[in-house]
Amino acid sequence: MPGFGAVTEARSFLDLDAIDAATLRGILDKATDLRSAWAQGVRERPLTDKTVALIFEKPSTRTRISFDVAVRQLGGESIVVSAQDMQLGRGETVADTAKVLSRYVDAIAIRALKHGTLTELAAEATVPVINGLTDRSHPCQVMADIMTYEQYKGPIKDAVIAWSGDGNNVAASWIHAAQRFGFTFRIACPETLRPDADLVRWAESAGGKIVVTDSVADAVNGADCVVTDTWVSMGNNDAAVRRKLLKPYQVNADIMAMAKKDAIFMHCLPASRDEEVTAEVIDGPQSVVWDEAENRLHAQKGILYWCLS
Ligand code: CP
Ligand code: NVA
Repeated sequence: MPGFGAVTEARSFLDLDAIDAATLRGILDKATDLRSAWAQGVRERPLTDKTVALIFEKPSTRTRISFDVAVRQLGGESIVVSAQDMQLGRGETVADTAKVLSRYVDAIAIRALKHGTLTELAAEATVPVINGLTDRSHPCQVMADIMTYEQYKGPIKDAVIAWSGDGNNVAASWIHAAQRFGFTFRIACPETLRPDADLVRWAESAGGKIVVTDSVADAVNGADCVVTDTWVSMGNNDAAVRRKLLKPYQVNADIMAMAKKDAIFMHCLPASRDEEVTAEVIDGPQSVVWDEAENRLHAQKGILYWCLS
């Protein structure tokens, strides 16, 4: 497979800092080829005779449906299951679950409450494991986001991406991506909701250009793209405090006006209109959120292809 680095173990897609830059670029190139091929009516079936388990410990619309469709369009079979409907939900260990599932399926994608569940599953499984979001990261989302950026604005290398809002799991994957893809990531957020300091240190020590600030203007001025996410992620139980802290970080028309004139707006969805972003922005001409959601399908085809072929 041209463009992909040699990998000897099961090819798990756990986080963007765990995969080298050339491999990530190869996955996106393949995803872009598969997007064009599908649009032109070309059908590639590299997952023929393969089965993928999709396990969810938390709700999902996009991840669940786009992975299911991606597997089917690539010629495979998928099994979507809520962790609550598995013995996992009543105490069977992650390790035992990993060993058993490895005897049935060719890959496992999981949305886990705790990041440790993902890493333990990957350590114990003999098949590739894919991160479909944890409390710490959301790498499939950010692969789709980079695809979307490049669809509109060309190579993301040396671009300036500005985030205004919670320094959450999606922001963490953006920080990984900034180092791997060579763009600047500026994040404006309240002090108590900043991304993990070790994560920022890792990115900076590996040459990543990261700016963490409490000033929205410092993050957004002259940016090529403005991104945000919900103020209250799944599992957060301090909604009132967060809404108060994050109010000044809402992406509205005034904030968009600080970015470049042709800047785009992205949001992983689901969105709360008039909380983290105004309806005017998310439903306005600079918003690319529907293409971004569509690209989950294409990006995950690239990821599945890499994991399984
Ligand atoms: N963006 C995203 O992962 O959406 P879901 O929670 O609907 O999967
Ligand atoms: N940060 C959000 C992303 C949802 C796709 C959450 O974890 O709930």
